[in-house]
Amino acid sequence: MNELVAEAKAFIEQFYIESEKSGVEVRLQQVEEEIAETGTYIHTKEELAFGAKLAWRNSNRCIGRLFWNSLHVFDERGASSEEDVFRALERHLEFASNEGRIRPAITVFRPSQQGAPDIRLWNHQLLRYAGYQEGDAYIGDPHSIDFTKKCEELGWKGDRTDFDILPFVVQIGENLPQWKPVRKELVLEVDLRHPEFEWFSDLGLKWYGVPIISDMELKIGGISYKAAPFNGWYMETEIGARNLADVERYNLLPKVASCMGLDTSRAITLWKDKALIELNIAVLHSFKEDGVSIVDHHTAAQQFRLFEQNEQHAGREVTGDWTWLIPPVSPAATHIFHKAYDNTWKSTNYFYQDKPY
Ligand code: ARG
Repeated sequence: MNELVAEAKAFIEQFYIESEKSGVEVRLQQVEEEIAETGTYIHTKEELAFGAKLAWRNSNRCIGRLFWNSLHVFDERGASSEEDVFRALERHLEFASNEGRIRPAITVFRPSQQGAPDIRLWNHQLLRYAGYQEGDAYIGDPHSIDFTKKCEELGWKGDRTDFDILPFVVQIGENLPQWKPVRKELVLEVDLRHPEFEWFSDLGLKWYGVPIISDMELKIGGISYKAAPFNGWYMETEIGARNLADVERYNLLPKVASCMGLDTSRAITLWKDKALIELNIAVLHSFKEDGVSIVDHHTAAQQFRLFEQNEQHAGREVTGDWTWLIPPVSPAATHIFHKAYDNTWKSTNYFYQDKPY
């Protein structure tokens, strides 16, 4: 309890200072009394919006933090049924996708507090491809295998393509989780092609446009929001150098390299590196041509440098996790590689949490 009071006070003080609001004493008094009486406190809409943005600003692993203050916050603390939650998720998807001009957004459901049962989203991201294992062959995204099994146990059935969009799965308290297919017209996807290699489109690859992390816990001033899906837009390496390239994911480097006619029998030809670059070029080219927001890793690093400067001017220390901030392609070509970052975690932040299943 004392810990909650301390966290709450520190957060409220920061909010009033940064937003240059008066009346902090009154609000601090109120919060303290509310906690004494009820064991918790309720954020105002403004506190919630500031807290969600602050949590982004504090996300040590995120290279995209320049835009923290533009986050659009949907306050869905009033949602109480699975239907309410599905409706809010659909609205989030539509707002964020915005026909390709992606808008960073978060939808915050009610916090864990006594009385009301927890709302949990079982999805890792609101849009994600299913994964199936058949013998030692995989279909789709191996990252999704466990969750896909759960969806099937709940009665969902995928088409068993490499790109089946998984349904929304929502659980309230101890109720049986409810699922709902994602309406097709809400799913923005980009077919991948290459600016020079005509054969590339025959690989039949695609990716979804908006990454919306839905399994992290948002903590603001000591209050825990376990369901708070949020999105930005993609950096191309996430798709081209990881999702499609990692051996434990779509593992496409050997195929791309052989289509390129490279000698894949010897590491010394650097076929993996060449294939990696062309995959990343295809991702950037396709998203750009379709008008779907994306950033390349050089531009993202420049933007991160600006963020660092802004924070310095505001008199704030930037914390960061170097191992995540450096891009997986040509890291030493960015300034981030050549600096050290303090990886201390500030407490208003996005955290991993235990899976609900
Ligand atoms: N790396 C994750 C993926 O490839 C997405 C993480 C969030 N990324 C972002 N650009 N906001 O799906």
